Amino acid sequence: MPPQRWVSPELARRLAELSRQLNRQLGVMVERGGRVTHVIVGDAHRLFIPDLRRHRAGEGRFRGLRLVHTHLRGEGLSRDDLTDLSLLRLDAVVLVQARLDELPGEVEAATLEPSPEPGAPPYRIERYPSVHGWNTDFLALITELEGQFRRADALRRVEGAEGAIVVGVTTGRAAEAEASLDELERLAHTAGLQVMDRVLQVRRTYDGRFVMGKGKLQQVLVRAMQLGVEALVFDRELSPSQLRNIATETELKVVDRTQLILDIFAQRARSREGKLQVELAQLRYRKPRLAVMPTAMSRLTGGIGGRGPGETKLELNRRRADERQARLEKQLRKLGKQRDLRRSRRRRNGLPGVAIVGYTNAGKSTLLNAMTNADVDAEDKLFATLDPTSRRMRFPEEREVILTDTVGFIRDLPAELVEAFRSTLEEAVEADLILHVADASSPELEVHLDEVAQTLARLGCEDKPRVLVLNKIDALDPALWSGLRARCGGLLVSALSREGLDALLLEIERQLFRSRAEAARPGLEAGA
Ligand code: GTP
Repeated sequence: MPPQRWVSPELARRLAELSRQLNRQLGVMVERGGRVTHVIVGDAHRLFIPDLRRHRAGEGRFRGLRLVHTHLRGEGLSRDDLTDLSLLRLDAVVLVQARLDELPGEVEAATLEPSPEPGAPPYRIERYPSVHGWNTDFLALITELEGQFRRADALRRVEGAEGAIVVGVTTGRAAEAEASLDELERLAHTAGLQVMDRVLQVRRTYDGRFVMGKGKLQQVLVRAMQLGVEALVFDRELSPSQLRNIATETELKVVDRTQLILDIFAQRARSREGKLQVELAQLRYRKPRLAVMPTAMSRLTGGIGGRGPGETKLELNRRRADERQARLEKQLRKLGKQRDLRRSRRRRNGLPGVAIVGYTNAGKSTLLNAMTNADVDAEDKLFATLDPTSRRMRFPEEREVILTDTVGFIRDLPAELVEAFRSTLEEAVEADLILHVADASSPELEVHLDEVAQTLARLGCEDKPRVLVLNKIDALDPALWSGLRARCGGLLVSALSREGLDALLLEIERQLFRSRAEAARPGLEAGA
């Protein structure tokens, strides 16, 4: 077919004629250059499009294929046609009516709309009474359309960032799921993704195959296509088969919450121990998914979801993954012993340890800096801190303590990570005092407090002396302070403005040195 034609009169005539004779819809897939790649024979009502996933004729937004097909009953472009247009990223869907006299009748063509008005359909449709009057240049139009998509992308997109849609599916309350999705958005941002849209579906049960309903997934996919998004980020852990199903269905990168957190950790780990811990956690996550990864996730090799901290590339071979895991575990055990040694040396020096724990972004590093003038990274991103940083802090009367910043906690912290970061988190177990720092300005304060308390309990430190530090009060209306104190207890501080720091230092001193003095006294008391 001449490449400039949407459909040539000869092809239209042939399709209409055969369609009538067979009493079936007929379709052909046509490449940009005009070559027919597939001939599809349907039934009287619809066509079944073959699997086109492997067929990508161009590098552009569209697949480089258009569908030209017939209808027998005068019905216009159907919902199926328009769904195929979006989901299969077709250049266009062209419909030719097969008239009773076996001649081609009215023609219609649908193409995707680069910037639809809100609420308007994401495609445009043109109609002509006959194929003969239809002289617009197909190639010119489709090139222009791809240009429009590119320009719209450029306006929306931060240079170099991968675009993503965050997706929540819940069987619980929408408000909680929204809050969790907010956090997922921040996580995605931290991982270097540009979140272009978010979708939440509330369902009675999770769909076994796709988590969400297939219809909703298709809507998400149309949106992804519209926005030029490369990745879908799900707010829950997906099973290996769900991961595969969604990746295969959408041809997009599919990242779940666990993978996202692992990815952030991979980007941020700096010390040798931190890097090994993350690599081990990634291996543990990937091993059960190895079988589906090479095919379903072949597009995952670069960028988000594909980053590894180690010097070696992440292995995709199960046996080698086992070997690597054993090696990592051994190295980590060795490093753990060294850490124990350092800790016991500190103990021998008689310096009490204070571990700063808290939900990610609570302000732990900032507080550590404010108290010790150390220069630890503090960023408005989640998990800026991965490696425990210890600093000495001097009190009046020449008393010293060691303050240690720990990895930020987060809800549903992947089990792989809790395990991998055990030795880091053990700083909290070993400490004499735990400073639990929370972001008092967060609407999610109570959820964060709970999450941290649970993780501490899991680590077996629920009975440790603890000071609750409600940080960031500068960002909170002072009228709310007393209510907050009454509700949560704890000290109100601002690591930024240093408000409340003196009281905090006094409290640390009181807890540490009083309890140590008391610990040293029982013998005396018994003798007294
Ligand atoms: P993770 O490394 O993710 O665990 O974070 P973190 O708890 O160490 O938090 P960090 O100290 O990195 O601070 C996170 C953000 O909160 C930064 O943008 C800080 O500037 C900000 N922040 C910390 N303390 C305060 C405070 O007292 N007031 C205000 N307004 N912002 C603060």
